[in-house]
Amino acid sequence: MKIYPTNFIKGEVFLPGDKSISHRTALIASLAEGKSEIEGFASSKDCQSTLYCLESLGVIVERQENKLLINGIKNKTFTAPNKVLDAGNSGSTMRMLSGILAGQPFTSIISGDQSLRRRPMKRIVTPLRQMGANINATNNDFPPLTITGGKLQAIKYNMPVASAQVKSCVLFAGLFAEGATTVIEPTITRNHTELMLKEFGANIKTESSSITISDSPLKACHYQVPGDISSAAFFIIAATMLPNSELLLRSVGINPTRRAIIDVLLSLGANIKFINPKLQHGEEVSDLLISSSNLVSNDQNRLLQGDIIANIIDEIPILSVLATQIEGGLTIRDANELRVKESDRIRSVVDNLRLMGAEVEEYTDGLAINGKQQLKGCSLDSADDHRVAMSFAIAGLVAKGETEIINSDCVDISFPGFFKKLASVTNS
Ligand code: S3P
Repeated sequence: MKIYPTNFIKGEVFLPGDKSISHRTALIASLAEGKSEIEGFASSKDCQSTLYCLESLGVIVERQENKLLINGIKNKTFTAPNKVLDAGNSGSTMRMLSGILAGQPFTSIISGDQSLRRRPMKRIVTPLRQMGANINATNNDFPPLTITGGKLQAIKYNMPVASAQVKSCVLFAGLFAEGATTVIEPTITRNHTELMLKEFGANIKTESSSITISDSPLKACHYQVPGDISSAAFFIIAATMLPNSELLLRSVGINPTRRAIIDVLLSLGANIKFINPKLQHGEEVSDLLISSSNLVSNDQNRLLQGDIIANIIDEIPILSVLATQIEGGLTIRDANELRVKESDRIRSVVDNLRLMGAEVEEYTDGLAINGKQQLKGCSLDSADDHRVAMSFAIAGLVAKGETEIINSDCVDISFPGFFKKLASVTNS
């Protein structure tokens, strides 16, 4: 894909349904009694992987225009699959579905593409084994996972890594356990699973960083998925960086455990207005109006580290691109988790920023980016990572000359139609 500089970004954009929320609606609805109606389900390839896995497990999914009907299975018991479950590129599918497979009275194998087969799974294997599931993994850590499930025992689990996927995996397994399962988070991560399980009738309670769930019947729901804030971030940042821009984003999920990217931008001086905020199934949703602004960092907000990192983890690649345009730049630390995403995102971002001529320092747990740098268009590789491809497409809008993104099709993982939507609001 070739990207050219643009003078502004203007118009209105509807985003794909939130990827994190969509995965969870499919997983939870498949366990609920009755037929759930899900509107705005993400068209992203990752969420389709979750649907395919569920279908291989006997769940009947009816696809209608902009609506999905999911027929919940009886007694939360799937049918044994007759093939390997393919999670594709999706860590969320593999980690969260494994929590449910651990409670099923059969053996299943779940695998994925090359990138997914390199991602760490010990983080879910450890608690699921403690609960009584029998799991095999390559080197005890990597997919494919062979899971023999059954009735589980409740545990109290202190999570060593801040991960909403791990938290969700253990909470899902808790639906199949005798007694109350408690998960304690080292820092608060996105709480979509907790809010949604409550919405579907589960017996779940949150007290600060501790969440407790017990086996409970789930009831089908009618659920409206909000727009994806992590996808919105590319447009929010483009409209902020480009002068004379004004962009309206419709129905964006701004759950307090997900909106840290907006808070960071506001603290740097971004012009973001919330219009018609409302509560939908416990999730905060709002239209966002963004106009251009000159961002400046200071000693209080230049360094992003600690608890906030888990809440901006998916937005760090695009935030790093933005950092090159901020007076004062940004430094990001404590982000080791970026090394084990769809690509090593610290590597991919540092390499590509350097190719564009930017000064960047790399740390094992992050990067430091000087501000106010003129980027130069060039040919870049996405490392087959959707968020890297989209981040550098946005970089191309403010660079001098032509930018080419190699392996750009991977944007479909979270945002099919991204380039078309971008072209519809730019003048390049
Ligand atoms: C997600 C949690 C995060 C995030 C991923 C989606 C989720 O991963 O990076 O894109 O939906 O729970 P971790 O749980 O590995 O931090």
